[in-house]
Amino acid sequence: MEKLWTGRFKKALDAEVNDFNSSIRFDSRMYRQDITGSIAHASMLGKQGIITPAEAEEIKENLAQILADLDAGALEIDPMAEDIHSFVEAALTARIGDTGKKLHTARSRNDQVAVDIRLYLRDRLDAVKTQLTALCRELLRLATEHRDTIMPGYTHLQRAQPITFGHQLMAYEMMFLRDIDRLNDCRKRMNVSPLGSCALAGTTFDTDRYYEAELLGFDGISENSIDGVSDRDFIIELSSAFSILMMHLSRFSEEIILWCSWEFKFIELDDAYSTGSSIMPQKKNPDIAELVRGKTGRVYGDLMGILTVMKGIPLAYNKDMQEDKEGVFDAADTVEQCLKVFTPMLATMRVLKENMKNAAAKGFINATDCADYLVTKGLPFRTAYKITGEIVGYCVETGKTLESLTQDEYLQFSDKFEPDLFGSIDMAVCVAKRTSAGGAAPQSVDKEILWAENRLKTLLD
Ligand code: ARG
Repeated sequence: MEKLWTGRFKKALDAEVNDFNSSIRFDSRMYRQDITGSIAHASMLGKQGIITPAEAEEIKENLAQILADLDAGALEIDPMAEDIHSFVEAALTARIGDTGKKLHTARSRNDQVAVDIRLYLRDRLDAVKTQLTALCRELLRLATEHRDTIMPGYTHLQRAQPITFGHQLMAYEMMFLRDIDRLNDCRKRMNVSPLGSCALAGTTFDTDRYYEAELLGFDGISENSIDGVSDRDFIIELSSAFSILMMHLSRFSEEIILWCSWEFKFIELDDAYSTGSSIMPQKKNPDIAELVRGKTGRVYGDLMGILTVMKGIPLAYNKDMQEDKEGVFDAADTVEQCLKVFTPMLATMRVLKENMKNAAAKGFINATDCADYLVTKGLPFRTAYKITGEIVGYCVETGKTLESLTQDEYLQFSDKFEPDLFGSIDMAVCVAKRTSAGGAAPQSVDKEILWAENRLKTLLD
């Protein structure tokens, strides 16, 4: 395929260099956006009288046909093309000759590629947002179901205080709601049209950039043409939002992996979402969760890649910027793949409530409640804390739990203990009493769920 820029050159490009230079391998996935951008550009050229309305129509019709042919597989992308922009222009010119050659008036591949990536990533961002919404809804369903399923809450991976499984799940809900919020925020700065910035300095033609921006669903235009072609902040922001989202999925995966172990056995994944071992017949492995955790690394890598590519390039376009695509494409693919399996994995897991409850009964996670009880009987918290610590020490030595000690045993440590103590250290009561805003009590979790439902609605508006 002839290059777009052969005029000043006497020799054809070396074959290896052509291969090295070409981006068609990865930018061909933006063919739809490239054609959509070109159709908007042709409309603008026609409206402004830069080409005739008839020429604009002919270009638009043929571009639409090229798109339909590509979709249908009737036209194949030439792997020898330099990039998707050259390919589409060549396909157009092959069909309508000289009129096709007018499309590139008042445009450069520099603003063209910037438009294409924004349009492409805007779609990918919206798709991830839809997936995240489904995940949030699933979590809300599970949290409602498990508003009073008691389990131990942990700090330092040591049993700490009683909570409910619903409360724990709602913590993840909050993270994913923030992820949606971050995507919304990122979308605002992404959704600005660089089209018409041309190579870097704008154009001498009487273009209408606002019209093109509107046709393409952008909220506005880049106000500086140099920035228009040089800015890749939106890629960095999206990769960063994806990295944070993956970090959340990875933490969640880590817990799922722990919960599946015999040491915890809080949940069991559905057979369709776990794998076996080729040698150990007893094994049922949480591979999906492990892979999600592992794939987080590559998304972080994608973020570091683009940050590094952008850090030292002078204004405006430099070929380094061709390296902006593969990383973020990989990040988007990875996030989408992960979410596609993660949500149904959660939806189909079996929650082993009894095991959670038994784990909550061990580990003295109601010790804070015992200390709080003494505080209600008039002791300062520090003193109550110390007495309870001594009682726990006694339990450890004698192999007892706070619930199984007798009133007389309690009285050896303090005369403040009365029979109502046993009500206060009952696990269900300990949870039910944590009614502070955002706390573990089922009624607080109900409020959280309501709040999250509304928040989700607002985020989707
Ligand atoms: N393939 C190029 C890229 O992805 C398109 C822009 C080329 N512009 C240029 N002046 N060579 O960045």
